[in-house]
Amino acid sequence: MSRVTLKHLSRSFGPVVAVRDLSLEIPDGTLLCLLGPSGSGKTTTLRLIAGLERPDGGEVWLDDDEITGLEPRDRHVGVMFQGYALYPQMSVLDNIAYPLKVRGTPRGERDIRVAEVARLLEIDGLLGRGVQQISGGQQQRVALARAIVQRPRLFLLDEPISNLDAVLRSTMRAEIRRLQKMLGATTVVVSHDQLDALAMADLIAIMKDGVVQQLGTPDEVYDRPSNTFVARFIGEPQMNLLPATIERSDGQLGVRALGHRLAVTEAVSGPLSAATRPDVTVGVRPRAVRIHRSAGEGRVVAAVYLAAPEGSRVIYQFQIEGERLTVESEPELRLNEGEEVHLELRPETLHFFAPGSDGGARIA
Ligand SMILES: Nc1ncnc2c1ncn2[C@@H]1O[C@H](COP(=O)(O)OP(=O)(O)OP(=O)(O)O)[C@@H](O)[C@H]1O
Ligand SMILES: [Mg+2]
Repeated sequence: MSRVTLKHLSRSFGPVVAVRDLSLEIPDGTLLCLLGPSGSGKTTTLRLIAGLERPDGGEVWLDDDEITGLEPRDRHVGVMFQGYALYPQMSVLDNIAYPLKVRGTPRGERDIRVAEVARLLEIDGLLGRGVQQISGGQQQRVALARAIVQRPRLFLLDEPISNLDAVLRSTMRAEIRRLQKMLGATTVVVSHDQLDALAMADLIAIMKDGVVQQLGTPDEVYDRPSNTFVARFIGEPQMNLLPATIERSDGQLGVRALGHRLAVTEAVSGPLSAATRPDVTVGVRPRAVRIHRSAGEGRVVAAVYLAAPEGSRVIYQFQIEGERLTVESEPELRLNEGEEVHLELRPETLHFFAPGSDGGARIA
């Protein structure tokens, strides 16, 4: 199918820089998720790939062809927009067939292709209905069918499941992933929900203010976030980020955080000792912290400030030395608010970032 390469793309709207010097390569057959908060430039990036928006600078390539100047209809992309805009007065069948009709595909072939796609998405029983007589999840699949029926070289889906309820959403994530693997089509999915990205994507590009903060597999961005913005954006509950200072005692490097000295691994003592400033931000995921009933070397004593049971897990909040620490635990451990426990922050689970409130880069 197709490999997409974006080279130094930029697009501004008046004073607003929507996309800034963006370079990305999307390998053939890959599902890439553009993930970021509202206004970070995701839709603009997708529109630049589709040709619906012209860049102020930079290039778009499809395989070995530069397509920056091509009209949208000559790019062979299947697009599904944010809100998925079906034609309300048309039937399901006519909605799906529309892009083929516009292109002058003969009636016979059109019918065959629509039937094929409808079967694939399990909406073949709905073809005769009006799109307002089907559920939101079915409308969603009609919109997908309309993109697929064109047999595009590239799928561009903008927030394809953001309007669905939680159950349908999780089914559709799996569905989109299955379909994409089956068709083998290079696909870009836009989402602001990290769960979508972690569940569907081969690669995730996390955007902020028009800039890609990190490009990596779901595991890479979860396990080694490149800065504190990514660290907080991926994973739920969010990663704890704590102010800390690097300290040396008896020749051993460690960090002081939450009023305690935390040990660090061999692997990070190098980069930490090379840091130019003693202050650093320590990151730890809520599920990486272990809760003990008894004291132990390096354990942080803390009282439960808040306990929020969520069925399959409990989210605890601790207040320690003026810092808030979130810890996720098994539901079996039932702690009451005010109860005192001993928290273990294991060296191998700690992340280190440059200090500062906004986007400090990963040190180790
Ligand atoms: N046609 C336009 N005219 C003016 N400003 C625009 C236009 N399109 C986008 N912008 C601005 O560019 C920035 C990026 O917008 P974009 O739609 O790409 O964000 P997004 O990441 O898709 O956000 P959302 O998650 O809310 O859909 C925003 O500040 C937006 O207001
Ligand atoms: Mg958008």
